[in-house]
Amino acid sequence: MRKTVVITGANRGLGKALVDVLIKDEDCFVISISRRLSQEQKAYSSKQFSFVELDLADDTIAEKISILKSLIGEEPICFINNASIIEPIVKIEDLDEAAIDKTISVNIKSAMLITKYLLRNFNGNSLTFVNISSGAANRAISNWSLYCSSKAFIQMFFKTAESEYRHHRFFNIDPGVMDTAMQRSVRASDFPDVDNFKELQQEGQLKKPLHVAEEILEKIQING
Ligand SMILES: NC(=O)c1ccc[n+]([C@@H]2O[C@H](COP(=O)([O-])OP(=O)(O)OC[C@H]3O[C@@H](n4cnc5c(N)ncnc54)[C@H](OP(=O)(O)O)[C@@H]3O)[C@@H](O)[C@H]2O)c1
Repeated sequence: MRKTVVITGANRGLGKALVDVLIKDEDCFVISISRRLSQEQKAYSSKQFSFVELDLADDTIAEKISILKSLIGEEPICFINNASIIEPIVKIEDLDEAAIDKTISVNIKSAMLITKYLLRNFNGNSLTFVNISSGAANRAISNWSLYCSSKAFIQMFFKTAESEYRHHRFFNIDPGVMDTAMQRSVRASDFPDVDNFKELQQEGQLKKPLHVAEEILEKIQING
């Protein structure tokens, strides 16, 4: 059965890995809401892949996502809230206002607006919402105040959405520590717990994004 998967931050890291798996299914139409395309994605057929170019830090998200109306029909829809930023990793006294605004927009506001848009315009479709969460949503890590609190916020937003829309499916999934650019920037940062993250990499404990993507898609069963 045909289905549409809308995913944010799909050009690299876990988001790209999810697309790499999804695109193998000819019945799956992927809509990437991202700032750019990966090299492979530039060659994907418009029958299976559509690129909505959007900086999630912009204040034009609500207007730009209205294009989804022309891309989606009556098929089941899955929204994967994947894009997220972790920087700046600094003490609270060193946070600047622009960084606070940016994290709120990318990690929280964009997902709220896309979720609202889909619920308002496609409530008659079968809807699955997947929030890529983090252990940091439930565990305070010094110098990660923006990331931890934004991940906690959006996790609760999805839980609340689940309580309002019982006929749709909602998942908060912690992917575990993965070998992506986000972890490289964590290891390059200065914070009390940094050595633990360096050790995870040295001991080969970082998960491969492709493997995590396969596990997530197996769990949510949008192919069913
Ligand atoms: N890596 C881990 O160990 C880990 C652990 C737990 C949870 N997670 C979660 O897993 C998810 C994926 O993380 P990842 O490790 O794959 O991260 P990543 O490698 O840093 O990739 C982040 C993605 O988000 C996009 N993005 C960032 N800012 C954006 C903006 N302003 N507008 C549009 N897109 C933007 C990036 O696109 P650009 O190329 O345009 O920047 C990229 O596609 C995140 O929700 C993260 O919180 C990761």
